[in-house]
Amino acid sequence: MNKKSGTEPSATLKPDTLLSVGGRDPFAHHGYVNTPVYHASTLLYPSADDYLAHRGRYQYGRRGTPTSEALENAIRTLDGPACAAVALLPSGLAAISAALLSVLRAGDHLLVTDSAYLPTRKFCDAVLTRFSITTTYYDPLIGGGIADLITEKTRAVFVEAPGSLTFETQHSPAIAAAAHAKGALVLMDNTWAGPLYFRPLEKGADLVVISGTKYFGGHSDVMLGTVSANAAAAKALKDYVGLAGLCVGPDDMYLGLRGLRTMGVRLARHQESALKIARWLRERPEVSRVLHPALDTDPGHAIWRRDFSGACGLFSIILKPVPRAAAHAFLDALTLFGIGASWGGYESLAIPFDVTACRTATRWAPEGPAIRFHIGLEDVSDLIADLERGFAALAAGKGSE
Ligand SMILES: Cc1ncc(COP(=O)(O)O)c(C=O)c1O
Repeated sequence: MNKKSGTEPSATLKPDTLLSVGGRDPFAHHGYVNTPVYHASTLLYPSADDYLAHRGRYQYGRRGTPTSEALENAIRTLDGPACAAVALLPSGLAAISAALLSVLRAGDHLLVTDSAYLPTRKFCDAVLTRFSITTTYYDPLIGGGIADLITEKTRAVFVEAPGSLTFETQHSPAIAAAAHAKGALVLMDNTWAGPLYFRPLEKGADLVVISGTKYFGGHSDVMLGTVSANAAAAKALKDYVGLAGLCVGPDDMYLGLRGLRTMGVRLARHQESALKIARWLRERPEVSRVLHPALDTDPGHAIWRRDFSGACGLFSIILKPVPRAAAHAFLDALTLFGIGASWGGYESLAIPFDVTACRTATRWAPEGPAIRFHIGLEDVSDLIADLERGFAALAAGKGSE
């Protein structure tokens, strides 16, 4: 944002400032602070010649509008100078599949972390296999050892860190170095940290996926995905998204852009409250382990400290052994934590999970039931009182099966 229309924000600005100024050009819109929502399909040309020559900044609603451009520019600003292009997709999962399909060809081999978001796995196993693309799942703790899994057919490595539900950190720079040394590209799902707390393009990733449904939107009312690419991957990404006809509805793009403006303060609060609750849970006699890389007791803490500048509101716990019904009694007794998929909104959530059947390169055998929390923006003391209610219900349910 600048008083002179068309000026890019300075690269020296801090992330919180970039959230405010990125993708805004008020004087291109009569001085209004926010870029208007363009509901658009057809775009008219002044003459037949102009139409045939595609003369003009925009061509067709699906190919981009001032609204999509504003959101793309805001994200590109946050991703830093290594970002050459941003594509907008209708969900985080659509962003994952688009990023993969932009680089993979029939017969390729793909490496995916065993701790990936389950629908990412399902896409690889159910769709990529139809194009003879084979996937090998790797242990998220493999680090530079991934070199041994890279064959001459390996086209890409897909990283997600921390892992979905189980929060293993990964030695992403070592994985990227090993992949690049053997000519493979690196894709990363960076939804947990987002561009404020980790910038994968600066740590060797070529393509970065974010589910904007989470903290970009921030209010559990929008589905959105983004892919950011470095110079090596930008053309293939933009070509694929254009050729496949992928685009996002204008109101959803606007909600994503509106959410970004407050993401810094929201995330700081999510982080602070989640850490307070994670530390409180760590001391509870009913809890065996807390899976949160920002805790100094977490096995991935050193990597988190080295690579990340913050944490979001999402982490898990493993309860000491109790019947499943007792864990469910805990969840059902909570009044402030909703039970539901997704995360990143202003509200707290808690869900049971069991990934035993989904892991193939590693073994998931927790000592007790596992629960994932999203800590929202409510007062921490109210959330703790709610969790105490849950633990009382758990104690009462211990005798059940
Ligand atoms: C880590 C991660 N990546 C991607 C997604 C998919 O995002 P969406 O729900 O926007 O498709 C999710 C959704 O929960 C997620 O947790």
